[in-house]
Amino acid sequence: MSRYFVTSSGTGIGKTLVTCALTWQLRQQGKSVLALKPVISDFAEHRIEATDTYEIIHAMGHKVDAEWVTRVSPWRFIAPLSPDMAARREGKEINFDDLIDHCGADHPEDVLLIEGVGGAFVPLDRTHMVVDWIDALDMPTILVCGSYLGTLSHTIATYESLIGRDIPVAGIVISESVESPVPLEETRDTLQRFLPGVRMIILPRIANWKSAPDLTRLVADL
Ligand SMILES: Nc1ncnc2c1ncn2[C@@H]1O[C@H](COP(=O)(O)OP(=O)(O)OP(=O)(O)O)[C@@H](O)[C@H]1O
Ligand SMILES: [Mg+2]
Repeated sequence: MSRYFVTSSGTGIGKTLVTCALTWQLRQQGKSVLALKPVISDFAEHRIEATDTYEIIHAMGHKVDAEWVTRVSPWRFIAPLSPDMAARREGKEINFDDLIDHCGADHPEDVLLIEGVGGAFVPLDRTHMVVDWIDALDMPTILVCGSYLGTLSHTIATYESLIGRDIPVAGIVISESVESPVPLEETRDTLQRFLPGVRMIILPRIANWKSAPDLTRLVADL
């Protein structure tokens, strides 16, 4: 099984879109894919269609039922806050070891994709951040960033911090933000100048993940 952790430089950047598009494209190539969003904030049962969990189950081609919701997102919290704060609002705490066990288990699928939560340096509990989760799983990452004003510093800082912790970055997806001050290509070329040799794919604004450009070359080493 090949494994990739989809993380980002911040929240609401495009991780779910990338996870779903990649899941869909790999399935089109005949690969079986298990995609997980183990920790989710802002989760409401009554509007499940609006959640990452729903999108991801849908992209895998499964029926969205209670069993799949629990499998894909065991740690679901209502408050739209960082996971540590959202959990605390419910008198809970994410057990880090249980989280690693859930994600690290061997699965029969060809590919495992794990979507993180928020950016790579968001707290999960009192002592762990998403980056510690990635580190413990020993997984390469796909880094999703935006094209908004400020993304260059956020993206380079996140990339350097991951590499500084010996976490491989398989590639960067630049997902077009609602407001971009320059063409996507200019953002890509600038990032490429400072991060030479890093695989980068630009993802323009699209209506849904089925119309994404080919992202499978990010996982070409499969
Ligand atoms: N390239 C794009 N084209 C169209 N819509 C996009 C694009 N990138 C992001 N979006 C939209 O922006 C919103 C946030 O994206 P998404 O849910 O994928 O972010 P995320 O990083 O998974 O957020 P979270 O941290 O909440 O998990 C979604 O409505 C998504 O469809
Ligand atoms: Mg998401």
